Order: sequence, then structure tokens, then C-alpha cells
Amino acid sequence: MDLPAIPKQGISRAEVLERMRGLQEQDVRWKENRAFSLVFHQSDEHTEFLKQAHNLFFEGNGLNPMAFASLRTFEHEVVRMAASMLHGDAETVGTMTSGGTESILLAVRTYRDRARKLMPWIRQPNMIVPASAHVAFDKAGKYFDVEMIHAPLADDFRVDVKALARLITSDTIAIAGSAPNYPSGMVDPIEELAALAERRNIGMHVDACIGGFLLPWAERLNAPIPAWDFRVPGVTSISADLHKYGYAAKGASTILYRSMDYLRHQFFVYVDWPGGVFASPSLPGTRPGGSIAAAWAALMAMGEDGYLRNAETVLRTARRFMDGINAIPGLRVLGNPPASVFAYTTTEPGLNCYAIADRMAEQGWHIDRQQRPPSIHLMINPGHAEIADRYLEDLRASVAYVRAHPGAEWSGSAPAYGLMANAPLRKLVGKNVLAIMEQMYSAAGEAPHLDAKSGGGVPGPVLQLMKLKSRLGDLLRWRRRR
Ligand SMILES: Cc1ncc(COP(=O)(O)O)c(C=O)c1O
Repeated sequence: MDLPAIPKQGISRAEVLERMRGLQEQDVRWKENRAFSLVFHQSDEHTEFLKQAHNLFFEGNGLNPMAFASLRTFEHEVVRMAASMLHGDAETVGTMTSGGTESILLAVRTYRDRARKLMPWIRQPNMIVPASAHVAFDKAGKYFDVEMIHAPLADDFRVDVKALARLITSDTIAIAGSAPNYPSGMVDPIEELAALAERRNIGMHVDACIGGFLLPWAERLNAPIPAWDFRVPGVTSISADLHKYGYAAKGASTILYRSMDYLRHQFFVYVDWPGGVFASPSLPGTRPGGSIAAAWAALMAMGEDGYLRNAETVLRTARRFMDGINAIPGLRVLGNPPASVFAYTTTEPGLNCYAIADRMAEQGWHIDRQQRPPSIHLMINPGHAEIADRYLEDLRASVAYVRAHPGAEWSGSAPAYGLMANAPLRKLVGKNVLAIMEQMYSAAGEAPHLDAKSGGGVPGPVLQLMKLKSRLGDLLRWRRRR
């Protein structure tokens, strides 16, 4: 196989850019507001401004705050602004990170190392998190050898606090709640969780990666937001993403702690390296200056008035979607989410959620399918105000289609999604997904490096995934016939 190598002679920059634009055409159509995740777009003007701020510090490196005092100032001020928005005080401290996952990884590691110091009798630390907590907690558990125990949810899709309390052991170093969680958009009962953490003298992390830069404004707009930030005694840390509803450039989040008592355990210092004494506040070495600078610029330019205006549009639009969906017979929004994130499922036995998802996808919508229960996920941004009616119209038509075609759940990708959500097959699915990743990252380079001019073909890993889906579909049809 002809492996791509660095071209012997550099290609003209114009041609390189042209090829890149060609590849970009295969990406999700977020500019048409047809996607509900991955991109947080405030406005074209705001994006142009972020690019300028990013460019100014494009080559800056936050690794060394002495060399880049500007970046240190930005980080310090971003953390102070976030702390004040989340009702911290002079004791509240934190750092910027590259995103929500890094913020959560750091929080878990911080609680582990703090416990090692203060509770050395704990041999196998664990954390109790809601079953709806972001998967970054499980990643952190795996990376840092902290057992992640999932607490069940109550009927309203918030964590069941009593059930969570029963899972706490003498090895528990912290618990967590979300504000809001990703799968249903519900805010966990943070006050009750934090009171429990205080009673047990353990840490309490609030994952506000989604809500950190939205819920404070929603509260000011009188949305029914339960208390969740540093005003709640017992909350010891919060993750809040700048690159989501903070409308910063990608690669920016914050991890905040109630005091230096916690943050000091996040720092890494090594004095014996031949390269010199090394100190680092977060996971990476090199820290891209552009995303630190653009985050500061976003906060300064948006201001409270900008965030409030934005939140008003987002909340109003989300309500329009949720009311519209609940008004369609056979569909129901999960729980009663207070802000911008939610999911809906079907309420009639014959009405298959994944078949509806397929119909919506055929009409050009980028659909995020979920499991437990089967549902369709949405995260609202200002641009979605323009397409709400169109979406609801297409959704009504999709539901009508699936109802009129009882076999619809046996065609398209619906059977495969149904089967992937099926508990006994989870091991098989996991193994196949790992195999696909190995292929995607193998030396043969099955990454989707399509030649923009020829149009390329279906990349290997995608083909594999399609085969897996079709194999699962066959299996399902076989089981149905029997
Ligand atoms: C609730 C929640 N926490 C954490 C994360 C992880 O954030 P990131 O993708 O920036 O790593 C996400 C991402 O969607 C999220 O929804």
C-alpha cells in the first residue's frame, strides 16, 4: 500500500488550503444549524473576533508563565471571572484546561492524591457518580486507578441520592453530580449531594462543563435552576467549559476548587529532571496560547449583557423545541430539563425511536442517538432558533412515516442501534469498536484521508462499522424470525 509521506517538495499553500477545503465539505453541516452537538457557534462576527484573538497568541506557550506573562494574566483573570460568576470567594482557585475531559481528569486525580496524603489508609479509592455522569469520569477512573461506581437515577432522570449514599464506603474519596448532565440535561440534586459529602467528609465535584457558563445567566432570567454552585456548602470543585456556552475557541475549560487545600494536589513538580526543575499546573506540557487568549477575549467581549442575551435566546428556543416535541403524540422529552440540553423518546410500543432517527437523518439532520432509554439528543445554540419550526415539521412527518410503515425499524441503521443497546451483546460491540479503532490508527492509515479531487471512497473503519451494524442487523432479523 502506498503510505502517505511528507511531500518531497512542499505544495503551494494555496493548493494545500484548497485540498483542506475539499475535505471540509465532508464534515457535518453545522453551519446550516443541522447539528446539535460538537460546535458552539455564537455568531459569525464573534467567531471572526475569536480568530483574531487566537492569532495574536498563535505561537504563545502557556507552559512557562514567566516567559509568557500575558498568558498568565489571561489565565488568572479567566479563573477569577469564572469564580466570581459561580459565587466563589477570595479562597476560590483553579486553572484553565484544554476542555471538559481534562478538567474532570484533573479533579479525579486531585481527589485521589489528596486522599493519599490525608487518608493513607485508603488502599483502593473509589468515587460515586450518577449513572448519567459524563464518561470522562470513567476515563479518569481507568487512567488514575480510581474505581468509578455508578449510582442509579430516579424516575426524574436525576441521581437517586439515597441510593448513592448507600454506595459510599470507607474507600470513597469523593462524589459527583452534574449541572446539567449530558444524556437528559437534568441538574442533579446538588444541595442534597453536597450535604451528604459534608457529612461524610469527602469531596464533592459538580460537573458543570455544559452549564457553567449558561446556568448563572438562566438563573438571572428566572429559569427554575436549583442551587448548584459554590453557594452550596460542601461543593468542593466545579468544572465549567469555556468552549461550550462560554463561546470561547476550542481547547478551553476551567477547573475550580473551593480553596488551595485541593488545588495544590493538582500541581505536578519534579526537581530531578536533567532538563531542569519542572512545574506544571495541569495535564499537558505545552499549553496553546491561542485558546487561553481567545477565552479571555470571549469573556471580555461577551460581557454579562452578551451572555444574558444569548441565554435568553437559547432558553426560549429550547423551550420551543421541548414543547413542540411533547405536543407530538407518541413522543416525550425525558424529565423536565431546565435549560438547553434535552433528549426525547417514544411512548408507544410500536413506535421505534431509532427508526424515527433514521428518517430525520435522511432529511439532512445530524442525529445523536442515545441508549438507556433509546432517545434522540439535542443541545441548543442560538442558531437553532432559525430552524426550530423546520425540525419539528420534519419530526412530525418522520413519526407519521414510522407509524404508517410498521417494518421501518427493520431497515436502515435502526436494527443495529437497537441491538447495540442490547445488554447481552455489549461485550461483542465493545470488542468490535476496539478493533475498528485499531484499524483506524494502524500504520496502514485507515484514517479518512480522502483525496478531495477524486472524491475518494468509504474509509476502512467506516466500512467496518457499517459491516458491524449490518451483522448485528442480520442477527436481529434472524432472532425475530425464530
Ligand atoms: C456534562 C459534560 N461533561 C464533560 C464533557 C466533556 O467535555 P469535552 O468534550 O470538552 O472534553 C461533556 C462533553 O459534552 C459534557 O457534556
